[in-house]
Amino acid sequence: MSGTTSDAKPRGLDGVVAAQTRMSHVDGQNGVLIIGGYELKELAGKVTFEEAAHLLWKGRLPSKEEKDELTRAIATQRALPVNTLEVVREAAKKGAPPIDALRMACATLSLDLRNPNDISPGADFDNAKMLVARFPTIIAAHTRLLAGQEPIAPRADLSLAANFLYMIFGKEPDPIAAKALDVYWVTVIDHGMNASTFAARVIASTRSDMVSAITGAIGALKGPLHGGAPGPVLDMLLDIKSADNAEPWVRNELAAGRRIMGFGHRVYKVRDPRAEVLSAVAEEMGGAVLHDKHLFDLAREVERTVLRVLDDVKPGRNLKTNVEFYTALVLQSLGLQPSTFVAMFACGRCAGWAAHVIEQHAEDHLIRPMSEYIGPRGLTVPR
Ligand code: ACO
Repeated sequence: MSGTTSDAKPRGLDGVVAAQTRMSHVDGQNGVLIIGGYELKELAGKVTFEEAAHLLWKGRLPSKEEKDELTRAIATQRALPVNTLEVVREAAKKGAPPIDALRMACATLSLDLRNPNDISPGADFDNAKMLVARFPTIIAAHTRLLAGQEPIAPRADLSLAANFLYMIFGKEPDPIAAKALDVYWVTVIDHGMNASTFAARVIASTRSDMVSAITGAIGALKGPLHGGAPGPVLDMLLDIKSADNAEPWVRNELAAGRRIMGFGHRVYKVRDPRAEVLSAVAEEMGGAVLHDKHLFDLAREVERTVLRVLDDVKPGRNLKTNVEFYTALVLQSLGLQPSTFVAMFACGRCAGWAAHVIEQHAEDHLIRPMSEYIGPRGLTVPR
């Protein structure tokens, strides 16, 4: 439950402004997301992920030369260091889920840095590029190893998204699929003071380094109340099977006290604007690439039913569709397994986390809230 304690102290920092940022703004009442000055609907589909990363890291969209330079710099750093690949192999051998493999592998990415503790703006920018370059390679390698296949070496001549799909499937993807993934990563690149971004900023505020901060952020993203929802969204659609089953299925879940994944948001009280962008991407993938819109059409019907039933069973809570609902469809349409969905989210959000680390390092102020002690006092140790 969100809200306040009995004497009106905010729980979980609800409603507390914990930082000033130039990265993004979430207007939950009007369903508007501003990223570096642009509304999401203005950016999504019009800029590449690398351009959006430049917007966050440098405060403006890049010139043509800057875009080419950044794209090249990221493309040439995609290969994994030996130690990182070893950790990915071990994680796959033990059957660790992709998000855990990513967290473990990310931690190793400081091993080949000349000075891992350097938190100067130059070092932060270099590390941001390196992390964004290698996250997709880690996930692709882990996915193939889990399937008993050898990882495929990255190619520098493909876009970040196209190369990821190439490393997973061993062939160049349909350009519409590569664009869909790129738009997805732009859509989730940053989102105000969400839990994982806050975690990254808390770590950076201690003057700890970029790799440490982003490793911590991955741990925060993993949970189902944050980034871990789209896998269960797909399970739900597959379980519902046909529009007729939607209402009894949803009512049954709610009666059992369970939440409907892909709905509700701490900040948005209207439809999440990212759901708008991603539903269009999912529809295009269904029509133009898969030539099968069955799942998309089912999702639309299920969305309508869930909204109606939530309004009935949980009146006044304003539970609307969030980003994860159509994320599930986009990632599924790319041929990815639900277990990788949250790690795919991390690939996009990594650029936003890095931007916040840069901003927090520049601010150089320790984040250290207070807690209210509610335990006993004056106890004595029995002798
Ligand atoms: N299904 C059913 N009921 C819900 C849902 C849901 N998806 N979300 C909230 N509620 C209900 C709660 O049970 C609660 O009901 P009550 O007043 O009868 O106790 C009420 O709505 C308020 O719930 P809170 O937990 O206080 O709302 P909060 O703002 O903290 O929750 C959250 C936001 C965690 C996202 C929640 O809506 C949820 O669990 N959604 C499902 C998981 C999900 O989709 N997560 C992805 C979020 S998007 C992202 O982080 C990228």
